[in-house]
Amino acid sequence: MSTILISGANRGIGFELARQFGADGWTVLGTARDPSTAGELEALTGATVLPLDVNRSNSIDALCGALDGRPIDVLIANAGIAFNLEAKPAEVTREDFLKVIETNTFAPLALAAALKPNLLAGRLKIATAMSSLMSSIGANDWGTQYTYRASKTGLNAVWSTLAREWRADGIICTLLRPGLVATRMTNFNGLAVETSVAGMKNVIARLTIADSGRIIGYDGTDVPW
Ligand SMILES: NC(=O)c1ccc[n+]([C@@H]2O[C@H](COP(=O)([O-])OP(=O)(O)OC[C@H]3O[C@@H](n4cnc5c(N)ncnc54)[C@H](OP(=O)(O)O)[C@@H]3O)[C@@H](O)[C@H]2O)c1
Repeated sequence: MSTILISGANRGIGFELARQFGADGWTVLGTARDPSTAGELEALTGATVLPLDVNRSNSIDALCGALDGRPIDVLIANAGIAFNLEAKPAEVTREDFLKVIETNTFAPLALAAALKPNLLAGRLKIATAMSSLMSSIGANDWGTQYTYRASKTGLNAVWSTLAREWRADGIICTLLRPGLVATRMTNFNGLAVETSVAGMKNVIARLTIADSGRIIGYDGTDVPW
């Protein structure tokens, strides 16, 4: 049986990933910043809930301690934030900017680095992170979202670099694009989360080392850099 670890699995896309992989018989390790918000995760998906605040090094260390030596086939660095998406340049604050970069850009790298031994012990050796069309410089033809865009473009840079460095270890590092999905992050506008996740699951099922370094949408298409 394969094992998947999903960060930020207590709601939104992470929850639905846990639900669908769990329904397929995977062992699901779902993290939650506050496990008291993850009652449904445990009850409805059968996931094992593990506490994790991706912005706290001691929390990542504790997760690694709890998972010591345990193989992980697939990592989904899903936890992320977005706020003040419509802020004009002068309204973007240093505090907001750094918080979003910390969560969306640095934390996935820190998590992947910490879990590398578990990925190496896994059979599938797949490390994914949640990118976005907003990461694309080439496809940005309407502006807005300075902070969120920067965080996801930075994530692309981080993950594509991991892909190159970890290729020799056989670890597939691929960025996923869920599409615009109806979750709390989008005020519940967009695609049904079930549709997005079913698509990303198909993408993950087909990944090979040749896909390492790509950004692949839920619909199987590449996102331009
Ligand atoms: N929805 C979309 O249209 C869309 C599009 C492209 C990419 N994405 C990306 O997909 C991922 C999931 O988004 P979503 O729509 O499911 O968002 P969401 O419903 O807002 O859920 C975000 C999840 O991330 C967790 N999280 C945030 N900060 C955290 C931290 N410091 N430590 C641990 N967990 C933390 C949240 O936990 P709490 O409950 O504790 O806050 C929650 O579980 C994000 O990376 C997002 O950028 C979403």
